[in-house]
Formats: sequence, C-alpha cells, structure tokens
Amino acid sequence: MIKKCLFPAAGYGTRFLPATKAMPKEMLPILNKPLIQYGVEEALKAGCCTMAIVTGRGKRSIEDHFDISYELEHQIKGTDKENYLDEIRTLIQACTFSYTRQNEMKGLGHAILTGETLIGQEDPFAVVLADDLCANPNGKGVLSQMVRLYEKYHCSIVAIEEIEPKNVDKYGIIEGEEIEKGVYKVSNMIEKPSTQEAPSNLAVIGRYILTPDIFNILRVTKPGKKGEIQITDALLQQAKAGKVLAYKFEGKRYDCGSIDGFVQATNDFYHTLYHKV
Ligand code: UTP
Repeated sequence: MIKKCLFPAAGYGTRFLPATKAMPKEMLPILNKPLIQYGVEEALKAGCCTMAIVTGRGKRSIEDHFDISYELEHQIKGTDKENYLDEIRTLIQACTFSYTRQNEMKGLGHAILTGETLIGQEDPFAVVLADDLCANPNGKGVLSQMVRLYEKYHCSIVAIEEIEPKNVDKYGIIEGEEIEKGVYKVSNMIEKPSTQEAPSNLAVIGRYILTPDIFNILRVTKPGKKGEIQITDALLQQAKAGKVLAYKFEGKRYDCGSIDGFVQATNDFYHTLYHKV
C-alpha cells in the first residue's frame, strides 16, 4: 500500500563539519555502507520500491551511488571483490530513484513539500531521515512495523521514542492517549519545547508515514521554530482532526547526525555484523 519513500537529504549537516562541507551527511558510512543505503534497504523491506530523494548540495554523490558504475564493475569483474557490490546492485535493480533539489534550506517541512513533485497527491508515503539509523536485528525494520500499523489505521504515523527529559528541546514532542500497546493517538505536538513546555518525553524520530493531504497543509504552514517550516506544525493540523498516531517502535535508533550517535552505531554495527566482541 505504501510504495513510495521520501528521503529529505538537503540539510547542511553542520554538526558534522568539516566532513559535510562538500558531501551530504547521508553519504557518511557506518562501516562500509553510507547512511542513505541503510535507509533505502529499510524502505525496500517495508515494501517501497520508489525512492524519492530531496537533495541540496553534493547531489551527485547520492545519485552516483544509486547508479551502476560500469568502469568499476569492469575493473573488479572476476575478482574476489565482486561481491562487495552485490547489495547495492540488488537495490538498483529493485528500486527506481528520482531526485529533486531544495533550493533554499527552509526546514524539514519545506523539504517534504519540495518532494511533492516526486510523490504526487494520490497516495500515502513514507519519509526516512537517513541520519536517524534504525536497527532491529531480531525483528522487522521500523518502517515495516509502521506500514503494518498504517494498514490498520489509515492515517499519518510518526515513530517515537522515550528520551531523557533534559533533551526534549532537540525534538518534536507529542502528547497523546495510548490506544493500544505502544500506539498513541496524538492530541498535541510541539517542536523543540523547553522542559517546562514539554507535554511528555516522547520524541519524534526520523520515520514517518504521511497521508498526501499533508502537502496542502504544508503549503500554508508558516515558519515556526528557528524560522523553518516544521513538519511538526503541519502534523499538528492533522492531529487536531484525530488523524495522527505515534508509534513506539521496536528496535534502536542512532542519531548519526551527531558524533556520539555515529560512533555508537559504528561500534554496535561492527560487533553485530562482524560478530566481534
Ligand atoms: P536536521 O535537523 O538534522 O538538520 O535535519 P541538518 O541541517 O541536516 O543537520 P545539523 O543540525 O545542521 O547538523 C533533519 C533532516 O531534515 C533534512 C536533513 O537533511 C535531515 O535529514 N532537512 C532539513 C532538509 O532536507 N532540508 C532542510 O531545509 C532541513
């Protein structure tokens, strides 16, 4: 039912300068794989095969990554390195990739609205912020879990996790009533509230399923916190109509837009994927 996944990847990535000066942070690798490839793999497993990517600068490296490099293929053909490209080849065959550019960095909400030309007005779609790397080694991916929930409720869904109350000013925070285990009907959401303002410690992370009416709401959403067009503000409009769920997902999220999260993901993936202690 959810066939398209949008990847806003136009942010400046200032927390990772100078690495992100000429390269999008979504191309930073955890082990030998760029963050955005993990995101695309998660989306494909959830049933999406159309990947829509909103880029700003450094567009070429993402486009080139999801394209065949004939020179490289030729170079390693018949060697023991050929299998290094197996995973990316599979993705290129299974998915279509399309791109658009966000000319001005006016926030995540604006980046999502920029993706409308790739997504269209007809169907619900997923959104993955690739710098939030999600892992659930013993179960389904986070997006797969959310797609299953969408099939039951047919409304917008945000993934949430409990955070330390002192960190609420870094996230969109929700207020809601738990309607089944780990599923909340959202009644309010505030972008980056102070500890006093925060209605809970349930923070929205970088996985969403959005119904396409979000585009018309975003079109009239005024700039909010930090002067940016915030997806939280647009979602609040849907929430007021009772049409947003928040889902406490199974698995672990790494904030790979920060050095701490990036290092933790690198260590955990190294130990899990290479079975080292
Ligand atoms: P962040 O809040 O992490 O911002 O964006 P950022 O600019 O990427 O990183 P820092 O804080 O400067 O280090 C959340 C997501 O929204 C995208 C980013 O690429 C990231 O995936 N984004 C944000 C856009 O695509 N466009 C924007 O205008 C803002």
